Amino acid sequence: MWLTEKIAEFFHMKEKVSIGGGTKAVEKQIAMGKMTARDRIKAILDPDSFHEYDMFVQHSGKDFGMDKKELPADGVITGTGKMYGQPVGIFAQDFTVAGGSLGLMHARKITKIMDHSIKLGIPLIGINDSGGARIQEGVNSLAGYGEIFSRNTLASGVIPQISVVLGPCAGGAVYSPALTDFVFVVDKISKMFITGPEVIKTVLGEEISMEDLGGAKVQTEISGNAHFFANSEVECFEQIKKLMTFIPWNNSRKAKAFPPKPPKPQYNITSIIPQEPTKPYDVRDIIKSVCDDSDFFEVQEFFAANIVIGFARLNGETIGVIGNQPLVLAGVLDVDSSDKAARFIRFCDSFNIPLVTFVDLPGYLPGVDQEHSGVIRHGAKILYAYSEATVPKITIILRKAYGGGYIAMCSRHLGADFVFAWPIAEIAVMGPQGAANIIFRNEIANSSDPEETRKQKVEEYTEKFANPYVAAANGHVDAVINPSETRDYIIHSIEVSKEKNEIRPAKKHGIPPF
Ligand code: HXC
Repeated sequence: MWLTEKIAEFFHMKEKVSIGGGTKAVEKQIAMGKMTARDRIKAILDPDSFHEYDMFVQHSGKDFGMDKKELPADGVITGTGKMYGQPVGIFAQDFTVAGGSLGLMHARKITKIMDHSIKLGIPLIGINDSGGARIQEGVNSLAGYGEIFSRNTLASGVIPQISVVLGPCAGGAVYSPALTDFVFVVDKISKMFITGPEVIKTVLGEEISMEDLGGAKVQTEISGNAHFFANSEVECFEQIKKLMTFIPWNNSRKAKAFPPKPPKPQYNITSIIPQEPTKPYDVRDIIKSVCDDSDFFEVQEFFAANIVIGFARLNGETIGVIGNQPLVLAGVLDVDSSDKAARFIRFCDSFNIPLVTFVDLPGYLPGVDQEHSGVIRHGAKILYAYSEATVPKITIILRKAYGGGYIAMCSRHLGADFVFAWPIAEIAVMGPQGAANIIFRNEIANSSDPEETRKQKVEEYTEKFANPYVAAANGHVDAVINPSETRDYIIHSIEVSKEKNEIRPAKKHGIPPF
């Protein structure tokens, strides 16, 4: 009898906490097209696999009437569950409770599940929906953020960290997602900013909506802070589930292998690149013509589209793909594309994912804007990331590989294990036009028919240098290959690199050009 009563009391307490901030606040949440924190967790994890912890934790605020307020679960749900039968750590902020604002105990719940995830070697998924530092708790809220950021940094490169922004992510809150590996946002729902429209209006006198300041489109297209854009929470959760199929659970493992599948027949590798060397094409078609089932899972699709990054499988095993995109800015490297690629390369290297690079670019983007935006500093990141990476690195030079771009895109000189070039590859210091204009300037100027001489000199240069054979003759390229052999060559390269173990000089850590 006494046990039945105690159990009934326990269920009552649980029920009270489960309602979060109350029926009205929950209705408001749902009216905004948002799920509740617990429903989000359930939608991401395997059915019935979620175990919640610290449900009865209470906030420690004492000022501004907080001592009389109860905040169920202190506005954040934490626990462990499973995805594809494998364990994960998860937290979800509950906006219905004090706007999901972060006080000290709220932060402690998050840091506890972070500590667990690091110790257990399991991925951590964080769902952010919060008004930021709980104003009533003052410096204690700031302390909470600091404790989260330091753990994000500790976990970086050890376990995959995934951030989902499903509501406001305001003030200090933005820096936890920024320190994690992948950030997911949803149209009209996600809003990320350091200082909100009110502050901007007061300080700068400028009016801007939250959407235009830091909505999902802004964060995926302009700032590059977010990696995946979805139209609904359900679509977002499908994206997360797909990502998880490509990555390992921690840095001591490899991603799960799947049964190999050939590429789909509609992607014919020999008919994608146009004959005219200045004509663009979609490098994603090349990737799809090579990878299993033509299934390419693109990351940061809408940001710095002049470079394409993402995951695919070859012979059943995950690879990280980087490709110049001739469709956008001729595939040049610039500030943003260098940042985008460098970070992805470091993720793959940390998590034992071989890198496959497809090269077709005229070089780094020239211009005052790029120079003043720090293309030297940012461009160096991709050099650093490729040079630092010790996973198998395979490079395919499809067409143009000029100047600094040739070196930067995982050349032999940065440590590529295998470099292959198509017969149409042009590997040189610069394009034939530019080169002829510089080295034959006097001859062209003094000729009786400068245009004809220029044409001849361009042809001469093209003949001599705009091909893969000079690089192949010097061993910078391992093999000139028939395009239709590309998949076989990459699969073989990865197979023979399985036991690759590259020892580097001991150091505390390097100093990347952050
Ligand atoms: C305490 C907060 C809160 C906060 C929201 N609430 N944010 N309580 N601290 N930071 C409470 C509200 O008082 C309200 O309580 C409930 O949550 C819902 O908020 P609403 O404003 O009614 O919701 P909405 O209209 O949807 O607006 C959401 C919002 C807005 C845009 C997030 O609340 C807002 O601007 N909040 C402040 C955001 C901000 O400036 N944060 C930065 C804090 S400083 P009731 O009781 O009425 O339901 C910071 C610095 C850290 O984070 C730096 C570390 C590096």
